Amino acid sequence: MSTIQSPHDRGKLRDLAVAVAAEAGELAAKGQEGITVLDTKSSPTDVVTEMDQATEELIRDRLLAARPDDAVLGEEGGGIEGTSGVRWVVDPIDGTVNYLYGSPDWGVAIAAEIDGEVVAAAVGVPARGQMFEAVLGEGARLDGRSLRAPDAVSLDQALVSTGFGYSADRRVHQARVLTEVIGHVRDIRRVGAASIDLTGLAVGRSNAYYERGLNLWDWAAPGLVATEAGVRLGGPDGGPPTGDLVIAARPGLYERLDALLAPLGADTDG
Ligand code: IPD
Repeated sequence: MSTIQSPHDRGKLRDLAVAVAAEAGELAAKGQEGITVLDTKSSPTDVVTEMDQATEELIRDRLLAARPDDAVLGEEGGGIEGTSGVRWVVDPIDGTVNYLYGSPDWGVAIAAEIDGEVVAAAVGVPARGQMFEAVLGEGARLDGRSLRAPDAVSLDQALVSTGFGYSADRRVHQARVLTEVIGHVRDIRRVGAASIDLTGLAVGRSNAYYERGLNLWDWAAPGLVATEAGVRLGGPDGGPPTGDLVIAARPGLYERLDALLAPLGADTDG
């Protein structure tokens, strides 16, 4: 049972997430120019740079200095157990390939979970000078301004973003799914960072998003920003988001996209 329950404490978790994401974003932004690949992970195109590692180290240090009893799960450094009931879920640089190629579309994502539920989040987009934040039940903000995602549009008017996994087999099936989806929607975007896709729903940069193969750190923080802005976030068979599939859109559009994706096996590798 957690010792932290009140909205006030959630606000403090959010404040810490924002402060640490801002500092981490500054560090990562300084290191973007001239960055090279340090290593690869799940496939030769799934890269990690020395800034992914340095940024995650800074985030872990700052979070644990402020709250030594918390757990941390990070993309690069794995998990550290805690005793407080709070776990931080961290993607130091979401959109690493964009980062490597000098694109501004990468994010620093930090979420706080209490007993497995995401309650506070910060998503910095340093190259655009933006900071998204959210507290469960208290709304989402961008640079202090409250966010409300635009109303649902019909499926054929929807701008839908998606992404592709790093394994060639998975990507081939994802492309097959996309050939079916593209004929039913306004158009498709492949931004290259789940954090930018999901926060983009909150500001109306697209209407819907789906992707197979995300990790919790890809969607935990931006997912809370999206849901607190009125977006429905889910996964396969009407359940919560999972690694098999994340779907996000305003209610009304969500159900139509879900119905389109289900028979296509969007939650499988084909
Ligand atoms: C990736 C990005 C990308 C998505 C991949 C993710 P990373 O995160 O969010 O848009 O398509 O599935 O793994 O590896 O750059 O942190």
